[in-house]
Amino acid sequence: MALDTDFVRAQFPAFAEPSLQGQAFFENAGGSYTCRQVIDRLTRFYTQRKVQPYASYDASRLGGEEMDEARVRMAALLGVEKDELSFGPSTTQNTYVLAQAVRKWMQPGEAIVVTDQDHEANSGPWRRLAEDGIEIREWRIDPETGHLDPEQLENLLDEKVRLVCFPHCSNVVAEINPVTEITAIAHAAGAFVCVDGVSYAPHGFPDVGALGPDIYLFSSYKTYGPHQGCMVIRRALGELLPNQGHYFNGDTLYKRFTPAGPDHAQIAACAGMADYVDALCDHHGGPVEGAAARGAFVHDLMREQEVALLQPLLDAVKDRNSVRLLGPDRAELRAPTVALSLDRPAQPVAAELAQHGIMADGGDFYAVRPLAGMGVDPARGVFRMSFTHYTSKAEIDQLIEALDHVL
Ligand SMILES: Cc1ncc(COP(=O)(O)O)c(C=O)c1O
Repeated sequence: MALDTDFVRAQFPAFAEPSLQGQAFFENAGGSYTCRQVIDRLTRFYTQRKVQPYASYDASRLGGEEMDEARVRMAALLGVEKDELSFGPSTTQNTYVLAQAVRKWMQPGEAIVVTDQDHEANSGPWRRLAEDGIEIREWRIDPETGHLDPEQLENLLDEKVRLVCFPHCSNVVAEINPVTEITAIAHAAGAFVCVDGVSYAPHGFPDVGALGPDIYLFSSYKTYGPHQGCMVIRRALGELLPNQGHYFNGDTLYKRFTPAGPDHAQIAACAGMADYVDALCDHHGGPVEGAAARGAFVHDLMREQEVALLQPLLDAVKDRNSVRLLGPDRAELRAPTVALSLDRPAQPVAAELAQHGIMADGGDFYAVRPLAGMGVDPARGVFRMSFTHYTSKAEIDQLIEALDHVL
């Protein structure tokens, strides 16, 4: 069963918005369009339930119930327990808070593994623990391909390593890392694992329970939802790390690492992401039972559509003289986030492409370390095109034609 793109696009008001007509959106890795299920819930919350939640009067009770619904349904979709998912302001803030907890938990002389493939959000906060005597070991990418080799991780591990941090896929290299394999290697050495899933989750929510990491992070403003940072912390680690919230909330796992007051409306609206997955699952005749199984069905539908659209784009850019494609040139190995290093600064190229109705950008995308690790000048930056399952074949054709003009 192939993805019904017309049905998909009908779920996104942006595609019917007059001011966006004729423009093809290729900056999805920066933030996706929002599905109507989320917009409807946000609107309802702001108009009917915008009160302090969890009191017994109707507006408040319904608001609190909707926030709980979001956590319970998204946790089920991700294959974890309902109190193993929490919502913070952003992934960057979530890793910052986690790093404060880890700072207290680890002893000087112990070690953390970080990569130079990560967005800075899953790198800098961990590296700063060096200030407290934590040893930082860097798992480095191949300077040509940007590939992270799991075998090299094994050489970095010993009994001092407590945590291994890496991306599910980088926001510029885009190669999909084998999370289960890497997690098994780290666990065998006695280390916990923290995965940045921000660049992966928009391409289908993963079954985090089956994948196996101890922490899995993503940002819902890139998964068709509101601007939140979603954080899975499995119980074993979550109960080990010291509480970073109010002392009287420390017994509630989903409150331990989100000290900011929750954004009630946005958390409630996160249930709209589960509605959207349900709508896709039902429309395409997916399984009736089991949230994670339904999520996996939708994940595979999205992935298949994206891989089919991605290969022609990769083929159109990979052999151009003036272009260096970052990451693999085979669609099945990567997310549809395509960064090109050019013979000139990337931002003016993006501006030229905008004249052809292409919404995309150039820059470092806070992936300064991966770019430097691959010998790309971050100041010159890369031109990045990123799409998702809702992108049409016509938009890919428009992009390829525009690239022909500009590159
Ligand atoms: C791969 C990756 N990780 C982390 C982040 C940071 O997420 P947030 O904006 O929620 O802090 C981003 C943001 O672009 C990202 O692309």
